[in-house]
Amino acid sequence: MRYILGIETSCDETSVAVLERRTVRSSVVASQAQLHAQWGGVVPEAAARQHVERLNPVLQQALDEAGVALRQIDAIAVTNRPGLVGALVVGLAAAKALAFALQKPFVGVNHLEGHLYSAFLMEPDADIPFPHLALIVSGGHTELILAHGHGDYALLGHTLDDAAGEAFDKTARLLGLNYPGGPEIDRRANQGDPNAFLFPRARVEGWNFSFSGLKTAVRREVERLRAHNALDEATLNNLCASFQQAVLDALIEKTLEAAQAHRVGILIVVGGVAANSALQAQMRTACSAAGLTLKIPPPKYCTDNAAMIALAGYFRLLAGERADYDLDAYANAPLGCLES
Ligand code: KG4
Ligand code: ZN
Repeated sequence: MRYILGIETSCDETSVAVLERRTVRSSVVASQAQLHAQWGGVVPEAAARQHVERLNPVLQQALDEAGVALRQIDAIAVTNRPGLVGALVVGLAAAKALAFALQKPFVGVNHLEGHLYSAFLMEPDADIPFPHLALIVSGGHTELILAHGHGDYALLGHTLDDAAGEAFDKTARLLGLNYPGGPEIDRRANQGDPNAFLFPRARVEGWNFSFSGLKTAVRREVERLRAHNALDEATLNNLCASFQQAVLDALIEKTLEAAQAHRVGILIVVGGVAANSALQAQMRTACSAAGLTLKIPPPKYCTDNAAMIALAGYFRLLAGERADYDLDAYANAPLGCLES
């Protein structure tokens, strides 16, 4: 098995990648962010229709950039859960059609497992040693996972309400910033004072997180500032920095405690929010003080991409997994569905 084609259409990124075994030959991502910005968030039907339009050109571009012909593809990996079902089925139907036409095997990949493997894209020649701790922070998920081996995971904790990326996006919206809010808050926070406003850090039991109280606290502050006509650019930057710091404090503190409690020496941080510049810097400082090895993929592999899906699929294919043509798409697939 030499060339693996990855397909990702679970949300608002149409992505196709070609791997040569564990090495990325191409990874093309067509983002729909601009389309959805007019509605302030992802509109599922619009996302699905956009995938229908974009998938074939993105596939062609991925093959061209890899210098690989379609007939050379040995196997296909496709995200089939969790995600927007209407969006998932576009990629899934394409994967089945290709597998059928080429008479090659295909596997369905859990999107979260894909994010876990984004860290492995940094090490095409070697595994990140197991066990290690993984923090997945994306638009839909915030989970702490103990990875014992390939396909062998234990969920330690998760968010009880909003995902970290969702908190960024919702807060950005109430601040009047564009979708997706994460990158914009990141940029503004770099020019603001993280101590200007003291927002609550939710104390949640176990290895869980909660961000909805924080969002409400920011809303109250914004309403107060608007009533006093005091929401100028500098204040907006301070709000972004103070909100972001509250999210990062919660993420970093819990994650380091979990690493210590489970005696793991390696931490990977993946998902769209892992692209956050302050999270990267502060996590790096905290990990080096605690003697932890930290791995965060480059930003293009933090956000949704098909290269991570292809790599997760590659390991499942190597383990002998093959999907049937009746493979379905699922909106929800908690970690229990990361069956080994
Ligand atoms: O992993 P991802 O691309 O999609 C999901 O699986 O959800 O994550 C998207 C999320 C969005 O909520 C976006 O606002 C957030 O990642 N994000 C960021 C940054 N870049 C993307 N959040 C904070 N800072 C960033 N630089
Ligand atoms: Zn994702």
